[in-house]
Amino acid sequence: MPDPILQADLDHLWHGSLQHHGLAQQPPFRVEGADGCYIWDDSGRRYLDAMAGLWCVNIGYGRKAIADAVYAQMQRLTFYPLTQSHGPGAALAKRIADLLPEGLNRVFFSNSGSEAVETALKMARQAARRIHPGQNRYKIIARHRAYHGLTFGGLSAGGSHMRKQAFEPLVPGFLHVAPPDALRCNFCKRACTLMCAEEFDRVIRMEGPETVAAIIVEPAIGGGGVFPSPPGYLETLRRICDRHGVLLIFDEVITGFGRTGKLFGFEHSEAVPDLLIMAKGLTSGYLPLGATVATDPVFEAFLSDRDPQAKFTSLSTFGGHPAACAAARANLDILLGEGLSENAATVGAALANKLRSIRDPRIGEIRALGLLIGIELVNLGTIDPLPEPEVVAIQKKIRQANVIVGRNADTIAGFGNILTISPPLTLTLEQASEIASAIEGALA
Ligand SMILES: Cc1ncc(COP(=O)(O)O)c(C=O)c1O
Repeated sequence: MPDPILQADLDHLWHGSLQHHGLAQQPPFRVEGADGCYIWDDSGRRYLDAMAGLWCVNIGYGRKAIADAVYAQMQRLTFYPLTQSHGPGAALAKRIADLLPEGLNRVFFSNSGSEAVETALKMARQAARRIHPGQNRYKIIARHRAYHGLTFGGLSAGGSHMRKQAFEPLVPGFLHVAPPDALRCNFCKRACTLMCAEEFDRVIRMEGPETVAAIIVEPAIGGGGVFPSPPGYLETLRRICDRHGVLLIFDEVITGFGRTGKLFGFEHSEAVPDLLIMAKGLTSGYLPLGATVATDPVFEAFLSDRDPQAKFTSLSTFGGHPAACAAARANLDILLGEGLSENAATVGAALANKLRSIRDPRIGEIRALGLLIGIELVNLGTIDPLPEPEVVAIQKKIRQANVIVGRNADTIAGFGNILTISPPLTLTLEQASEIASAIEGALA
């Protein structure tokens, strides 16, 4: 008698980014339960989840306080759209604004990172045209290796051709420059001169600033392979945007809510964006929620007592669902109350040190910011990526040691060679050692 859940899965579920041919012989990993940093599968085997689900369970699994907050909210108001108003939405918007630098004041809710990106792109195009009357500012400049979501706008901004090519043509008006990649930098030979940041300036001037609406970047590229911004990079983008009247968008879907050792990734810099995108850690994945935060000047560009088309004509049925907003507030209580950003900074630095002490010539570079870590694997004595089958075999060996790490799969052909680590921010030093030992053992 086949397992009925497995049978239902094989017969009816369509899994994202998974080849279904032959799936019956190698069924997907089925998770039955989770607590803290650990998950267990249907056979009861326990793993340390060093990916926090999908870079999102920042407060760890199984927090009853979130379930209680959601239950209480569901008893009061199960649903109402934010085309009008409700208490949990308004309270969460204020809570988010209070956590951000002055001026980042206006919160538009959606249901996912992709929708929050889509919202920012739409806001940027409309705002840019309203701020610069008579100019058709629509171009968005993004980076290769970035990931900005699964929707057409987000995919167009994304810089990983393997995630895009099956669905092309995408949205017109998106341009890409090189990411900060010290290992393979084509700009600077010895020390970093931030020429990759200056490239945005060159592209804006060559395209004509009056055609450019915005720059969008992750303060540290996550799913594309973990590329933190070098010192001064985000400030350079801020100056370039101000020079040309271009809006600056930070996509903090992964880097937000403590992941990098600060509440937001941009706080490692002096730069403040015009639009800020968040999701994942906003609820730590307990319920779906995304948010796009705009500064006062961006919001004010949509105000008019004369033009009925001035408003932001974009609506989401479920965006800012009362239960999701209640989950987010309870999540913030835990995240801030337990000092999880600070823990991410301390334990992340310790984990990065342990990983850097592993002597293996296939480790080309370890890039880390808080508990966002990438291990780039290369062929011996080169910077050529280690072939993917070898990287996958190492990843499987790590899993055999009961630790789950990720990989930048389906990004750039031949460059799926980066192991990723993004555990719950509650990770202890002992658990960090558990991760490092599993990786060292697998490499050996
Ligand atoms: C930086 C970034 N932006 C956007 C997204 C899309 O978020 P979602 O999967 O919630 O739609 C992701 C997802 O991983 C992301 O890493």
